[in-house]
Amino acid sequence: MGVDAGFWRDRRVVVTGHTGFKGAWLTLWLNAMGARVIGFADKVPTSPSLYELASVGEGVTEIWGDVRSAAAVSEALAAHEPGVVIHMAAQPFVRRSFRDPRATYETNVIGTVNVLDAVRATPSVRAVVNVTSDKCYDNREHGRPFVEDDPKGGHDPYSSSKGCAELVADAYLRSFFAPEPDGPRLGCGRAGNVIGGGDWGEDRLIPDIMEAALSGEVIPIRNPEAIRPWQHVLNPLSGYLVLAQALLASPERQGGWNFGPAAGDARPVRWIADWLGERWKGDLRWEIDPGPHPHEARYLALDSTKAREQLGWAPTWDLAAALEATVAWYTALRDGADMRATTLAQIHSFAGRRR
Ligand SMILES: NC(=O)c1ccc[n+]([C@@H]2O[C@H](COP(=O)([O-])OP(=O)(O)OC[C@H]3O[C@@H](n4cnc5c(N)ncnc54)[C@H](O)[C@@H]3O)[C@@H](O)[C@H]2O)c1
Repeated sequence: MGVDAGFWRDRRVVVTGHTGFKGAWLTLWLNAMGARVIGFADKVPTSPSLYELASVGEGVTEIWGDVRSAAAVSEALAAHEPGVVIHMAAQPFVRRSFRDPRATYETNVIGTVNVLDAVRATPSVRAVVNVTSDKCYDNREHGRPFVEDDPKGGHDPYSSSKGCAELVADAYLRSFFAPEPDGPRLGCGRAGNVIGGGDWGEDRLIPDIMEAALSGEVIPIRNPEAIRPWQHVLNPLSGYLVLAQALLASPERQGGWNFGPAAGDARPVRWIADWLGERWKGDLRWEIDPGPHPHEARYLALDSTKAREQLGWAPTWDLAAALEATVAWYTALRDGADMRATTLAQIHSFAGRRR
């Protein structure tokens, strides 16, 4: 099953975190398919941002609110009666979670409780996609990719909060949604390390490298030998969309889903930095940042067999295509292009290649 534009046309969709990196790409994509998007976020998290550069708020109903406020979330859903909710608002940074664990848990765990509670009180909602992370799994470095039923947990507060968000969703599914024959259906999407144009998130490799490329400064890189399964942001977003479609088609599709890249697309940080250095038309140099750095898992991989077999999902762009699209996006930015048109063109190119 691919992303079905007909399914999304005129559908009312709440996207929490629509001003963020993933949320802005998803909102543009939904908008391009004719969905009626209601975005819910507390602010625009970075400056610059994809949200501002691509005028993501155009044609979207926007609600400025905090997911930590149960009233704000339930009022938004009650007022706009969406059919689908895609919950992405989060505090998504590991290092910030060490500095501010409480805000991380409040946003990622209580925020999820508030969204699911609001869904319970809003009969229009037929499907919820709860976006967590590959870091939701208890990573004992056992050397094999995670499958959906592996135990949840986390070493750092961010990973732990995403494990908790999974446990919250599982309890809501079993206690409230599944027992109701006409209840909303719930799926959790797990992915990690996405790349693409328009990310200015702190402590992330591509934003750091691209900022250095645009400014000409030498970039310090942490953990150059750490292996990560990289993929373009549109790959997991297509997974979330296909999951929502599948949830509406069948209650069997409820539960957790991995959306990871092909095994060959797990590469060391150093490999990515060198690849970008070779392709960027300009000066791009990096050096090792000796640290100290907080704990980070050495290797994380997802087994996405379940999504492939039961949802017909597969990553559309491999790592080379993802890096090429990323370089093209930042080159367009440097050259003063229309970034809404540039981003939409990449979405159309991706969607046109969906199998
Ligand atoms: N980017 C990645 O590599 C990656 C990897 C795995 C999982 N994820 C998950 O995907 C989701 C989106 O991540 P992203 O990279 O787009 O992050 P981001 O920081 O770019 O965006 C986060 C969004 O959430 C909103 N938000 C944060 N706190 C809020 C609050 N208290 N109330 C309301 N809105 C709030 C922000 O305003 C923003 O719109 C998150 O759940 C994140 O954990 C991201």
